[in-house]
Amino acid sequence: MTERPRVLILGGTDEARRLAAALAGRGGIRVVSSLAGRVRDPRLPVGEVHTGGFGGAAGLLAWLRERRIGVVVDATHPFAARMTASAVEATGRAGVPLLILRRPGWREGPGDDWRWTPSLPAAAALLPSLGRRVFLTTGRRSLPVFAGLDDLWFLARSVDPPEPPLPRDLRVLLDRGPFTVEGELRLMREHRVETLVTKDSGGPMTTAKLFAARELGLPVVIVRRPQPPAAVPAVETVEEALTWLEALTRGSGGG
Ligand SMILES: NC(=O)c1ccc[n+]([C@@H]2O[C@H](COP(=O)([O-])OP(=O)(O)OC[C@H]3O[C@@H](n4cnc5c(N)ncnc54)[C@H](OP(=O)(O)O)[C@@H]3O)[C@@H](O)[C@H]2O)c1
Repeated sequence: MTERPRVLILGGTDEARRLAAALAGRGGIRVVSSLAGRVRDPRLPVGEVHTGGFGGAAGLLAWLRERRIGVVVDATHPFAARMTASAVEATGRAGVPLLILRRPGWREGPGDDWRWTPSLPAAAALLPSLGRRVFLTTGRRSLPVFAGLDDLWFLARSVDPPEPPLPRDLRVLLDRGPFTVEGELRLMREHRVETLVTKDSGGPMTTAKLFAARELGLPVVIVRRPQPPAAVPAVETVEEALTWLEALTRGSGGG
């Protein structure tokens, strides 16, 4: 590759922001980051930002061609499966290299009581058997799944206010990470939480709740990640992504 390519970072995560910042410090690489536009006041990456969807795989394909994007890094959240599927299809059709940057999932340790579930509805089905007071950290758009569980009390934490349908007995806490173990312990004790519900998001920003649940001996209902696409190069850290991009721009392939 003779010319430094223009990099599209599909973002919405801390890793995406850190990658954009690292690339901004390297001369010659042009970067544009994209956000879905769901959060009212998002933490913005440095540099050029595109906000809003592309219009599915076909829209992304047209966008890649129009903007002469030479490489795509999918640094979206591990549960943003539709964006990832679009990226795989569009980059495949455009002949543009794609790298998936996905932080590793969480691992259960001694003293943890985790109940792995395949989906949010499966998590909701498990709740009545575990306790009445539930702390939901699965995002505001997941709350309709828990509506109808009228015998349970919910504390739901989200960045923006949730919209109906919502559980009948619900307290909403607007906040975003990073959180501390002390803060999570205080919150869970104050609300006499009996069960924690989370997705397997991974990463350090929201891990404190898991340590707090362990300390309090609470069961954690944890939703498994969607399967990552096969046959797409993938890395777990920003540093590995930088190395892959460096190899690619030197013309040695990468992956
Ligand atoms: N899911 C989570 O738990 C979670 C948690 C934290 C942050 N996030 C971030 O929030 C965003 C949306 O997540 P989601 O779960 O709703 O994703 P999703 O279900 O995979 O995506 C739905 C649609 O939103 C648009 N979109 C998603 N990510 C985008 C991006 N980075 N740039 C431009 N358009 C994007 C795409 O629209 P078009 O089809 O029109 O292109 C996509 O088809 C992602 O950027 C993700 O990194 C998600």
